[in-house]
Amino acid sequence: MKISPRFDPMASCILFEGDCLNLLKQMPDKFVKLIVTSPPYNLGKSYETRLDLNEYLAQQKKVIEECVRVLDDSGSICWQVGNFVNNGEIVPLDIALFPIFSSLGLQLRNRIIWHFGHGLHASKRFSGRYEIILWFTKSDKYTFDLDPIRIPQKYPQKKHFKGPKKGELSSNPLGKNPSDIWDIPNVKANHIEKTKHPCQFPVELIERLVLSMTRENDWVFDPFMGVGSTAIASLVHNRKAIGSEIMPEYISIAKERIKKAEKGELQIRPMDRPVYDPTEPTRNLPPRTVNLKSAKNLQPQLLEPKGKYITRRKKR
Ligand SMILES: C[S@@+](CC[C@H](N)C(=O)[O-])C[C@H]1O[C@@H](n2cnc3c(N)ncnc32)[C@H](O)[C@@H]1O
Repeated sequence: MKISPRFDPMASCILFEGDCLNLLKQMPDKFVKLIVTSPPYNLGKSYETRLDLNEYLAQQKKVIEECVRVLDDSGSICWQVGNFVNNGEIVPLDIALFPIFSSLGLQLRNRIIWHFGHGLHASKRFSGRYEIILWFTKSDKYTFDLDPIRIPQKYPQKKHFKGPKKGELSSNPLGKNPSDIWDIPNVKANHIEKTKHPCQFPVELIERLVLSMTRENDWVFDPFMGVGSTAIASLVHNRKAIGSEIMPEYISIAKERIKKAEKGELQIRPMDRPVYDPTEPTRNLPPRTVNLKSAKNLQPQLLEPKGKYITRRKKR
């Protein structure tokens, strides 16, 4: 496949300004280990044109097909979606999109429920407080490391009370599997990571996927990158980040956030911070300041060698 000379696989962070299909078409087969994204939900937000649902699904299919091609055989795709809403009737997009992924031979490993506390207050149905992450793998031999993402055990001191292990701790001292229901605050007004983007990922949500589904120096791709939350979650953990975004304004914010992280000035909500509990307001952890320079395996160049991000204008 012909690769644009501007596509530099030696870079560790590639931000592409334009349609994700244009970037995908330049990417080599099996290039990335993880694809994690939240596509437009076809709700008519400022960055999308509201389409007929079938047309929307056909468009998504084109992107998903290319994503499968650029995915490593041991890689994963995590598609994070909510509901398409039409005259108060909802269509869960994970249900509508599932046949596309399975027709392309992908295997569903989890349907993760991301539960959060804030959102619109509905008056004619229950207020929506969760969205879905569909996690697919390309094969049976996929990367999945549980240890980096374990969470504290409920009863860490519990011991076996009989049998050959009597007296030994009965649960894994490294913590437990976080399960398929994740309680992580969404990014609303007073979240430390809030930018102008109306629906950005909390970085900690993506850190969990990156840490479990990739290893250091793997590429993580977000085709609908917004303000670069996936890139930040990846770079913080010494992975390489590639992403595309159609709105120049969001690309600029993504660059700014990454530059701040390089300077040690970007603050994110720490992964181990508990969800706010009004009965225990002091049970809290301060924001984590990201400093990419102090990362374990120093990435000398976040920017491509000439000090420029690889970006491209959308052709009209
Ligand atoms: C739901 S938002 C994703 C936000 C992102 N997760 C973040 O943390 O900022 C979807 C993004 O896709 C962008 N977008 C829409 N169509 C696109 C396309 N064809 N190619 C690339 N980006 C696109 C939108 O501008 C929007 O920022």
